[in-house]
Amino acid sequence: MMDHFDLLAAVYEKLIPPPDPRVLGKLLDLAPVHALLDAAGGTGRVAGVFAAAVARAVVCDSSPRMLEQARRKGLETVLAEVEAMPFADATFDRILLVDAFHHLRDQAASLRELLRVLKPDGRLVIEEPDVRRLPVKITAMLERLFLMRSRFETPSSMLRMIDEAEGVPTLAREDGFRIWLVVVKP
Ligand SMILES: C[S@@+](CC[C@H](N)C(=O)[O-])C[C@H]1O[C@@H](n2cnc3c(N)ncnc32)[C@H](O)[C@@H]1O
Repeated sequence: MMDHFDLLAAVYEKLIPPPDPRVLGKLLDLAPVHALLDAAGGTGRVAGVFAAAVARAVVCDSSPRMLEQARRKGLETVLAEVEAMPFADATFDRILLVDAFHHLRDQAASLRELLRVLKPDGRLVIEEPDVRRLPVKITAMLERLFLMRSRFETPSSMLRMIDEAEGVPTLAREDGFRIWLVVVKP
């Protein structure tokens, strides 16, 4: 069955501006030997910025139409839910989860799965809208109206969930609208 993102895929990047590579680039701290996973990476809007800097870049997403756009950029794609990804343990040096945590069906299971496929000492960088801010609260309300199954969590609740999944999280940055968490796998 087509979901909201399948319907939006063709126009997604016209609606959502390109990412600022400076913040994510700094937090990712990529090396040419790295394998990078863009989890719930959609059209590859973000992975496309960093793919040339690493040995392997993979976009995993549950929407076939979003992934079609990523493939057009020449990116490697995997159709799967973040909750159950077809990768061996400790496959990736770096993982991105941008603007997607609130969309995940099972956030706790997804965090465990992201940490499973991350290498020890690897880094997961999460960018999320900051639900403590009014414009994000309004977005959350609109997404409920459009029957999207979004669930926005506060930074402190996200930090607790990551801790429970046995990652070591830091609230690395906030800009009044978004937050960035860096999670290290011990
Ligand atoms: C707002 S988009 C963000 C896409 C991309 N990270 C970006 O920043 O451009 C959210 C994405 O999450 C994907 N998604 C939602 N739930 C998912 C799940 N459980 N597993 C994998 N992908 C999921 C959607 O298909 C969509 O592509």
